[in-house]
Amino acid sequence: MTSTPVSTNSAFADNAAALPASWHQIGSRTAALGFDMPSEPDTGTMLRLLAASRPGGRLLELGTGTGLATVCLAAGMAADSTLVSIDIDERIQAVAREALAHDPRIRFVIADGLDFVRDQPAGSFDLIFADAWPGKYDGLDETLALLRPGGLYVVDDMLPQPNWPANHQARVDDLTARLKSHPDLATASLSWASGLIIAARRS
Ligand SMILES: C[S@@+](CC[C@H](N)C(=O)[O-])C[C@H]1O[C@@H](n2cnc3c(N)ncnc32)[C@H](O)[C@@H]1O
Repeated sequence: MTSTPVSTNSAFADNAAALPASWHQIGSRTAALGFDMPSEPDTGTMLRLLAASRPGGRLLELGTGTGLATVCLAAGMAADSTLVSIDIDERIQAVAREALAHDPRIRFVIADGLDFVRDQPAGSFDLIFADAWPGKYDGLDETLALLRPGGLYVVDDMLPQPNWPANHQARVDDLTARLKSHPDLATASLSWASGLIIAARRS
């Protein structure tokens, strides 16, 4: 079978138009704070889509940062979905709290992500965006156990990044292998934004 050459289509280049207005406001605050771990715009558009696929769902974000991903999750969530977003840094999370103060679906928590995960009942979340060391490189099995059947686990920064420490590629490779070989997960690696892996819990 011959393949058709991929043409450039501007409809594929305007994902950023789907970002909420608050994303742009937070972007300015993020730069002013010198916060150097922000998620990418296309990560936000994907999270918005995935959040919209979980009506009535309970969502968890590990690593709020300044809330760039949080506002995208919020933009996709149904009125009856809820989100808990965890960060250990009160000063950084304060930007997100301010931007989403009006939204009763969202609860912000200052805690160590792994402590929070260990306090939650198994099967209690429908989507987890693990964007901190805990839930990704620490406590992976405990975090995956929080997913309900059909629940989604999402990580970004899986393609090489300029700010990675020297030995980080081995950790990324190990995480990728664990997700792909997990018997209870259906997993896809996407060359999207900083490199996403999305996994769905089968049982
Ligand atoms: C990659 S950034 C998150 C970026 C954010 N999700 C966004 O959309 O821009 C990682 C965040 O994890 C937080 N963090 C680091 N260690 C943590 C821990 N042990 N528990 C919870 N949060 C932690 C950092 O303060 C930082 O805000």
